[in-house]
Amino acid sequence: MVLIVGGPAANGVDEKLAEITRYRLVKIVHKVFPDGESYVRYPVPVEGEDVVIVQSLYAPQDKHFLELLLMIDAALDLGAERVIAVVPYLAYSRQDRMFLEGEAVSVRTILKTLRNLGTYAFITVDIHKEYSLKHFGERAYNVTAMEEIAKHIKKQFPDLENPLVLSPDKGAIIHASRAAKVLNSEYDYLEKERDRVTGEIRVKPKELSVNGRDAIIVDDIISTGGTIALAATSVLKQGARRVIVGCTHPLLIGDAREKLRKAGVNYLVATDTIPSEYSKVTVAPVIAKLLKKIL
Ligand code: R5P
Repeated sequence: MVLIVGGPAANGVDEKLAEITRYRLVKIVHKVFPDGESYVRYPVPVEGEDVVIVQSLYAPQDKHFLELLLMIDAALDLGAERVIAVVPYLAYSRQDRMFLEGEAVSVRTILKTLRNLGTYAFITVDIHKEYSLKHFGERAYNVTAMEEIAKHIKKQFPDLENPLVLSPDKGAIIHASRAAKVLNSEYDYLEKERDRVTGEIRVKPKELSVNGRDAIIVDDIISTGGTIALAATSVLKQGARRVIVGCTHPLLIGDAREKLRKAGVNYLVATDTIPSEYSKVTVAPVIAKLLKKIL
């Protein structure tokens, strides 16, 4: 049998996964001791079962990571057959290499730890760089939410005017291409340039013009909002009709919301990998599809 175990940071993805897959849902018993230490307990026997643990790594990410380790180790200790870690938002994924000599490659530490603990498979959503999955080894999977985000935008905006899907940089163009397929539209990536007279930094689509069109900007993460704010102001100056933004992981740190509003973003949608008022798209269906294939 397969059990879907919802961790303290599952953000409802566990419930939706159980609903779609019809696997049994188990909520982990969780508390925090007065000194801040976490405690978890399985309320049902897991011996001989395939245990799918859902725990996202949004803030406080270190605590949520430790809770994930406790849940994995306890399940194996209790005789679970296989443990699958479903981590909708993988924290630390942007520190994917040594940018400066001597730095920790944080995503490697996270994935190695999960593997070494005995995790059978690892699933995440729109990981910052897919090559990071190699640190887990075999059976590490990344699914994308971009099609789901694009479907949502299509439904919300039946009046899209010659849409152009844009990624904030070349490295993220895969997100734009995936969304564009659903929207049946063109896509491009934004490139930075400096105004020779004013010194102002702005971004521009590499090949196409955004003038008179609806700009749909997609990215994996919105953190401080700086990247999307610059993209939105720039494309609006270049004549974009509206700016619609879709992102998988809405970290939205500090005044990110205000920054996006001031930049003229007309609409923002994100997924439930991280809780926020914009998390209207669920990643459960794409994870469920993969789970059915693996198990
Ligand atoms: C960068 O490579 C990521 O894909 C995001 O574009 C970035 O993390 C967004 O950060 P911020 O919202 O702070 O500009």
